[in-house]
Amino acid sequence: MSEVFEPAPLGPLVLRNRIIKSATFEGAAPNGEVTDELVAFHRQVAEGGCAMTTVAYLAVAPEGRTDRHCVVLSEDSRPGLNRLTDAVHEAGALAAAQIGHAGPVANARSNRATSLAPSRRLSPTGAITQAVDEVGIARITDDYRRGASVAKAAGFDAIEIHLGHNYLLSAFLSPRLNRRRDRWGGSLENRARFARQVAAAVREGVGSDVAVTAKVNMSDGVPGGFEVEESIEFARLLEADGHLDALTLTGGSSLSNPMYLFRGDAPRKEFAATLPAAQRWGFAVVGGRFFKEYPFEEAYFLEPARRFRAALSMPLILLGGINRRSTVHQALDEGFSFVAMARALLRQPDLVNSWAAGGAEQGACIHCNRCMPTIYRGTRCVERDSVG
Ligand SMILES: Cc1cc2nc3c(=O)[nH]c(=O)nc-3n(C[C@H](O)[C@H](O)[C@H](O)COP(=O)(O)O)c2cc1C
Repeated sequence: MSEVFEPAPLGPLVLRNRIIKSATFEGAAPNGEVTDELVAFHRQVAEGGCAMTTVAYLAVAPEGRTDRHCVVLSEDSRPGLNRLTDAVHEAGALAAAQIGHAGPVANARSNRATSLAPSRRLSPTGAITQAVDEVGIARITDDYRRGASVAKAAGFDAIEIHLGHNYLLSAFLSPRLNRRRDRWGGSLENRARFARQVAAAVREGVGSDVAVTAKVNMSDGVPGGFEVEESIEFARLLEADGHLDALTLTGGSSLSNPMYLFRGDAPRKEFAATLPAAQRWGFAVVGGRFFKEYPFEEAYFLEPARRFRAALSMPLILLGGINRRSTVHQALDEGFSFVAMARALLRQPDLVNSWAAGGAEQGACIHCNRCMPTIYRGTRCVERDSVG
C-alpha cells in the first residue's frame, strides 16, 4: 500500500508517488493560446494528488499541430505555459510536456498547411499528405530540440516525446505507412532512425536535469502496421541509445484504429455530432469501420507490456485502463516503475488523494468514452457533468 504513495525517482526527478496523469488533449487552447481554462485544468489534476500531470500534445511546428487549436512551442506560448507549470508546482505536483509532430494525423485544412508523412497518402480528412524530404527531417529534428528547450524554459520538469498513435514519428515506424526506399524506410533500423535522432535531439535540447520519456506504440492495432516484436526491438535500440529515462507503453492509431487505444464503448453518435453536416453522411458510412469496438478490461495493455518488461531493463510506465488501486500495486509488483492514467482522472481528478486516504478501491469511470468527442470544446467527463 505505502509503496504507491511514496516518492520515487524518474531520471533526475523525484515524483511524490507512482501515478502520472496521462495526456488528454484539453481542447482549451483556441488558436493555440494558453488560456486560464487550460491552467485550471492542470491545477485541478495536480491538486487531486497525482505526482505529475502531462500537458497534452504541444506541437513542435505549425504543420505538426493536430489542428489550429493546438499550442505550438515557441517564445510566444512560453509565458502562458510558465503560468501553467507555476500553478502545477504550487499544488505540489510536477509537469510534463507531451511534445510531438502530428504528421499524417494533422488536419491540413484547419492548419492551412500540407500535412507531412513518411510517404504520400490520402488522409482521413480527404487531403493528400506530402512525403517529408531530407531537409524536412532535419528541420523537424531541430524543431524538437528547440521545442524541448522552450518547454524546459517554461518550467516543465519532464518531456514526453509522442512516438505513438501514428503521429509522424510513429508513422515512420509503421511498415504500412512508411513505404520509403531511402535510409528512413525499409528495415526496422531505417524506420527507427527518425525517432532515435529526435530522442537524441530532445535530450540535447534539455540537458540532464529534465526527465525525457517517450510514449511508444507496442502495436498499431492495424494489419501491416508496427507490431509488438518489432516494437520490442525498437525499445531495445532506445534503451541502448541512453537518452530516455522511461518508456510509456501505448498502442493504436488515431488514423485508422482509435478504439484500440481506449477499449470500451465507441462514442460514434457523439463523435458524428462534432462533424460539419457535410461530413456526417460519410461518417455514417465508414464510422463503424473506423470506430471498431474492443471490450474494456482493467489494465488491457498489461499482457503485451509484460513482454517489454521482460526484454528491457529501463524504467517502464504502464498505461491503459487502470481504474483500481490494486492494479497500481500489481504494476509495481511486476516491475513497472509508474502507472499513467487518463480517463479515470478525468472522471475523478482527486482519485489519487482518495486512494491514499483509503477511499473506494475502484474508480468511477465507466469507459463510455464520451470524453473523447469533447476534445474540441473543453475536454471533460460527460458522466461527471451529469452524475457529479
Ligand atoms: C479525451 C482524451 C484525449 C486524449 N488525448 C491524448 C493526447 O493528446 N495525447 C496522447 O498521447 N494520448 C491522448 N489520450 C490517450 C490517453 O493518454 C491514454 O493513453 C488512454 O486514454 C488510455 O489510458 P486510460 O485507460 O487511463 O484512459 C487521450 C485520451 C482521452 C480520453
